[in-house]
Amino acid sequence: EKGGWSSFMAKEVSEEPEAVANTIRGRFSDGAVTIPELDGLDELFLGIDRVIVVACGTAAYAGMVGKYALEQWTRVPVDVELAHEFRYRDPVIGPNTLVVSISQSGETMDTLMAVKYAREQGAKTLSICNTQGATIPRESDAIVYTHAGPEVAVASTKAFVAQITALYLLALHVGRVRGVLSAEDSAEAVSELEAIPAKIARVIETEQEHIEQFAGWMADTASVLFLGRHVGYPIALEGALKLKEISYIHAEGFAAGELKHGPIALIEPGQAVFVIVPSPRGAAELQKKVVSNIQEIRARGARVIAVAEEGDVSVLPFADEVLRIPLAAPLFEPLLAVVPLHIFAMGLATAKGLDVDQPRNLAKSVTVE
Ligand code: BG6
Repeated sequence: EKGGWSSFMAKEVSEEPEAVANTIRGRFSDGAVTIPELDGLDELFLGIDRVIVVACGTAAYAGMVGKYALEQWTRVPVDVELAHEFRYRDPVIGPNTLVVSISQSGETMDTLMAVKYAREQGAKTLSICNTQGATIPRESDAIVYTHAGPEVAVASTKAFVAQITALYLLALHVGRVRGVLSAEDSAEAVSELEAIPAKIARVIETEQEHIEQFAGWMADTASVLFLGRHVGYPIALEGALKLKEISYIHAEGFAAGELKHGPIALIEPGQAVFVIVPSPRGAAELQKKVVSNIQEIRARGARVIAVAEEGDVSVLPFADEVLRIPLAAPLFEPLLAVVPLHIFAMGLATAKGLDVDQPRNLAKSVTVE
């Protein structure tokens, strides 16, 4: 039930802190990750030489974020593929391939068919899913459930942060099993993750009203661009997808480094551009590059909305709006940076008078190919 909320989406965005907290609950002890569902699977994780993540829509962007953590903590190469593309191109897979599917519903036909195909080709399969007993986890060798709670709004929000959380837990677990991640580094990551729910709550508390206000002013905007780099890149893609899905505004996400290779041609006076700025502490080199991207687009008249760490003053001279996120280690920033983008999409769709829970032409779970 919606309770006192104006929409399921509003309720579900407000539940993003709990979605993360509930997904990590019971999976840590003494700074170490213990995922009961993965007990007895050490041999599987020791035997793999490659991971392929398959998913659709928002879940695929969670997978792209997860790739950074999986590669950093496990040193196993990771590819992320849209499930419907994966299956129809004769991919190279074998007994040492782990195919990780991500699906909120666990019923998306494209993802299910990719998992079945992977199994037929002899791969191991692991499902990250939010729905207990759904078809995709039943077709998989291993399951890590996200505990975001039921998600009703068609556009996925709280499930997205829960999916990233589950991928991070998986990465920490596999990294420890394979002996490539130290107990100390794992414990540090665990404490970063444990701090995330309160930080998401702070973003909502401090920025929601501000974002809804300027989203209202932007109700007539024809197009919005999103730029991000490293883990901020999939967040840019997610910000653009959410806006398309519920506000029907043309939106595109780009890797910030790609700007000069094409997208900068789109920049004209008044073009709204969200920029996810990496941390000046944790990712100083990338932060400088992104700030110089901001200068380039600002010089061409873009309206810049920067999503930046608290205390990062370097963006102030070039940004029309600054949305603040609390400090976190770079790998954990996506869990914070996405929150203002979810709120923005919702604010803009609401300002246009649209039904944010039931966008036109979309279904919560697409059970046909
Ligand atoms: C789409 C939904 O059709 O399916 C998206 O509209 C969702 O919101 C995507 O991200 C994948 O769904 P699932 O259930 O597999 O995560």
